[in-house]
Amino acid sequence: MAVRLVRRMGDPVLLQVALPVERFGTPELQGLVEDLFDTMASLQGAGLAAPQIGVSCRVLVFGVEANPRYPGAEAVPTTVLVNPELEVLGSEEAEGWEGCLSVPGLRGLVPRHTHIRYRGYDVQGTPIVREARDFHARVFQHEFDHLNGILYPARIRDLSAFGFEDVLFPGQTSVD
Ligand code: NI
Repeated sequence: MAVRLVRRMGDPVLLQVALPVERFGTPELQGLVEDLFDTMASLQGAGLAAPQIGVSCRVLVFGVEANPRYPGAEAVPTTVLVNPELEVLGSEEAEGWEGCLSVPGLRGLVPRHTHIRYRGYDVQGTPIVREARDFHARVFQHEFDHLNGILYPARIRDLSAFGFEDVLFPGQTSVD
C-alpha cells in the first residue's frame, strides 16, 4: 500500500476521540492497516495509530523486534487492534521514556500502568485478548491514548523530564 504523511502535534485530528470501526474485513480496513504498518516501518516506529495518518477511527498497530536501536526494550509482538479496550490490572505504575512520531525529536518521562489486559479485534473481526506488562503494556497504552486524542506530553508529570532527544541522550540513537 503506501507510506502516509504522519500528522504532527498541533493537528486537530490528533486531539479527536476516534470513532469505532463498524465493519470488519473490508478492503478499506485492510488498506488502512497496511498503510499503518508501511508508515511505521518507514520511520522505524514502535507503533502507530490511525489518527496519526489522519484517519479518525479506532485502529492501531505496534510491534518491536529485539533491536539494538531500542536499548533495554524487550520485543513486543506485531499486533493489529481494531476497537481496542484497556483493562488495568493492579495499581503499579512506572515511568519510562517515550517518543512519538507525531512529536518528532522529543522525549519525555511518562508514567504508565505496568500490568494490563487489552482486548480488541483483528481486521477480520476475530477477538484478541492479551495480558501485557512493562514495555509491551507501555506501547499499548501510548497507542491507545492516540485513539482518545491524548498525546504523551499531556501525561508528563515533571516537565523537566521533557526535551529534545539529542540533548537528553547525546550520542544515542533510538526511534520514536
Ligand atoms: Ni505516538
